[in-house]
Amino acid sequence: MTRVTKAVVPAAGLGTRFLPATKATPKEMLPVVDKPAIQYVVEEAVRAGLDDVLMVTGRNKRPLEDHFDRNVELELALEAKGDTAKLDAVRASTDMATVHYVRQGDPRGLGHAVLCAAEHVGNEPFAVLLGDDLIDERDHLLERMLEVQAARGGSVIALMEVPAETISLYGCVAAEKTEEEDVVAVGDLVEKPPVDEAPSNLAILGRYVLHPAVFEVLRHTAPGRGGEIQLTDALRTLATMPPQQGGGVSGVIFSGRRYDTGDRLDYIKAVVRLAAERDDLGPALRAWLGEFVAEQGH
Ligand code: G1P
Repeated sequence: MTRVTKAVVPAAGLGTRFLPATKATPKEMLPVVDKPAIQYVVEEAVRAGLDDVLMVTGRNKRPLEDHFDRNVELELALEAKGDTAKLDAVRASTDMATVHYVRQGDPRGLGHAVLCAAEHVGNEPFAVLLGDDLIDERDHLLERMLEVQAARGGSVIALMEVPAETISLYGCVAAEKTEEEDVVAVGDLVEKPPVDEAPSNLAILGRYVLHPAVFEVLRHTAPGRGGEIQLTDALRTLATMPPQQGGGVSGVIFSGRRYDTGDRLDYIKAVVRLAAERDDLGPALRAWLGEFVAEQGH
């Protein structure tokens, strides 16, 4: 059995929902409290033991590269001031993982982004983490998915139950129970189905542990929803393939804390929630929130 060591983080999206903030800055760099969203994702991968991170970037990759690289000038300035807390914070994003980059060039969808990782990943299972979904560090979704992949082989996706009327925002699966309470066997998948065609209310969350057979499948996956090469469509093929060929898809049902930073309202909620839980900012923010809400009620 091959231990998973590599994480792939697609980061080539245009971030149009956040324009003009994302005109010259990748959306992955938007701060969630005081860290860019992408750093939470890399930290999550590292906590799960994956410290080889490949970012699939687009034209605006510079700020991402700079963030995970050293900033010697800044380090010297902080050192001179004796500000060790900030110095540690600045160094943390550099030392945390080995970050590699590949350009997607022509962004043709999530499936295409994953295919861009083929050469770096090689013939091993690997994880994919989407930056729009942040998983609370107290919940250990990725670790659980790696455990399930090691035990069952094939590919593993993260699922969460969502209100039926919101399913068209997500990939959706038809799945059957297994002997493990949080694990299902996935029989079919469909990307963002209309509510009345959804096979369940189990939505795909942005965490995957994939068998390398996915690459060959992606090479033959035609553009799907939105004219894009969909990872969900490739998984649909994998679900029907025999285990000897790297087929089989399991789902881990997640019931922990997930913060969506993909749209503006959810992003604001994520920032407020995470700040309210922090020791340094929480007490003052919670007090102010109480007053603010009362004031709005008038
Ligand atoms: C992608 C996937 C979708 C999944 C979602 C989770 O969609 O294609 O299946 O449910 O991520 O965040 P996106 O949100 O990138 O359009």
